[in-house]
Amino acid sequence: MEQLRSNCALMAEIDRIAEVAGYLWTKGWAERNGGNISVNVTSLLTPEDLALPALAPAKALPEKMEALAGHVFYVTGTGKRMRYVAQAPFENGSLIRVAADGLSYEIIAEQPIQPTSELPSHLMMHNYVRSTGRDNKVVLHTHPTDLIGMTHCKRFLNSDYLTKVLWSMIPECRIIVPKGIGIVPYEIPGTVELARATIKQLENHDVVFWEKHGILAVGEDLIECFDAIDTLSKSAQIYFSARLASGEDPEGMTQQQLDDLVPAFGL
Ligand code: 13P
Ligand code: ZN
Repeated sequence: MEQLRSNCALMAEIDRIAEVAGYLWTKGWAERNGGNISVNVTSLLTPEDLALPALAPAKALPEKMEALAGHVFYVTGTGKRMRYVAQAPFENGSLIRVAADGLSYEIIAEQPIQPTSELPSHLMMHNYVRSTGRDNKVVLHTHPTDLIGMTHCKRFLNSDYLTKVLWSMIPECRIIVPKGIGIVPYEIPGTVELARATIKQLENHDVVFWEKHGILAVGEDLIECFDAIDTLSKSAQIYFSARLASGEDPEGMTQQQLDDLVPAFGL
């Protein structure tokens, strides 16, 4: 599709999506088709791009998404592998446009690739965060082994406790994930129930753990979303290393050391 390929701003963002998809695979967070990405690209499109004809019949959304009316998203395809999204983003994902009434969406480019099964969660999250007045652009879902492993332990299924443990492993974690972590008890992947429970957690957090399934980050920038999850994963690895080395729970940074970061970094 010549028209889209000549849109440098759009193609630069698509390149970033491919870059991050590659990181997810090399990190070992994207077995088979694990994980999905959606990015709001509306502000990068020309009026002609925004008006592209639909490639397939419109599909109903699970609820009205007023804050997304007319918005266009790049969305990875269901069943598609991140390692191939990295190589060919338009063969493993598509651009979708939400209808003006916010009730349905159409695939508009480049091929009729069906969006991720987590589309209800992604769009409901985009809609929720935008409706709070934030210029949210990204929802990133991935399967980091270390972080998912922690959600298999009952004592970590407490948002305050898990946040404190991960924050206290390295100062950067407190700085890069300042709102801490929300936790959603296990729900069937791809369901509206999972989406609703996640939105509740987004009232106070930008990163949410799905028990025994995966991690999700929202934000304005895809690389920043990746970095937040990567930093949490680093903290988890430090926790496991320290535990292995001593046979005990690591003490971590003290509350005072964590609190001192707040004025020092304007958190
Ligand atoms: P999709 O292939 O439908 O994106 O599903 C992957 C996944 O991680 C579901 O949670
Ligand atoms: Zn998943």
